[in-house]
Amino acid sequence: MTSANPGISKAVIPAAGLGTRFLPATKATPKEMLPVVDKPAIQYVVEEAVAAGLSDVLMVTGRNKRPLEDHFDRNYELEEALTRKGDAERLAKVQESSDLAAMHYVRQGDPRGLGHAVLCAAPHVGDEPFAVLLGDDLIDPRDALLSRMVQVQARSGGSVVALMEVAPEQIHLYGSAAVESTDSDDVVRITGLVEKPEAADAPSNYAIIGRYILDPHVFEILRKTEPGRGGEIQLTDALQQLAEDEKVGGPVHGVVFRGRRYDTGDRGDYLRAIVRLACEREDLGPDFRTWLRSYVTEEM
Ligand code: G1P
Repeated sequence: MTSANPGISKAVIPAAGLGTRFLPATKATPKEMLPVVDKPAIQYVVEEAVAAGLSDVLMVTGRNKRPLEDHFDRNYELEEALTRKGDAERLAKVQESSDLAAMHYVRQGDPRGLGHAVLCAAPHVGDEPFAVLLGDDLIDPRDALLSRMVQVQARSGGSVVALMEVAPEQIHLYGSAAVESTDSDDVVRITGLVEKPEAADAPSNYAIIGRYILDPHVFEILRKTEPGRGGEIQLTDALQQLAEDEKVGGPVHGVVFRGRRYDTGDRGDYLRAIVRLACEREDLGPDFRTWLRSYVTEEM
């Protein structure tokens, strides 16, 4: 835990989704385990939480998600084999994911929506503010969004969500926020939220991206939240109530993110994330960039 966030140590990562957009790859493999270059997408998310000073991670999983638990656990057979071979570099890669954070798991049982997944975390989280990170959103490791949100929450209390400006024709894919400016250029006050509105009904082009710091009062609200859009219990609807009544749980602020984000739940964006991150890697980048350049100029 860093001194900047004495109150926040827990991260909740909903990971019960079926990943139908990636079938057949996700028939027997959780979508969170699909590699981005050579690391499962979910490991980037856990690393992001750890980089922001959170040391306790709860994954909300479901059926067929055992590989997630195995990935963040020790693998003694593999470790022993690599030790025998003297392959210290690969051994370090194997151990990296099991040494990251204190990992915990809870099963969602019925897939009743993101709000319901977050509610499954209530017994573990208790009465303290906590972070929620959605696995489909990959934030470039060089852009410290979550740390900034932790900072804003420490200053203003209440809840903080990450926002990104999107094109009007994209807003129906996201929660959309009505906002007022504050004296910080990257922070807005949220006065209302709507889950996946049509462009014409959206309060703004500010889309919620999958990072939240939540006041624990959200659990009380989620227990009473009726199914909303898509028949699911929506986290956005609970946040709307927090924004509406500041006396319960404090204000809701938005941190406007202008960095690099990939939606790894979308096949096109997933490929873009792999290409970009591979290009920037010291070990793979130089050769890969040379190949990519000639591929683009000669074959496309
Ligand atoms: C969820 C939230 C939505 C948010 C989005 C960010 O939707 O319900 O408010 O904008 O994540 O990725 P999902 O993409 O899971 O349908």
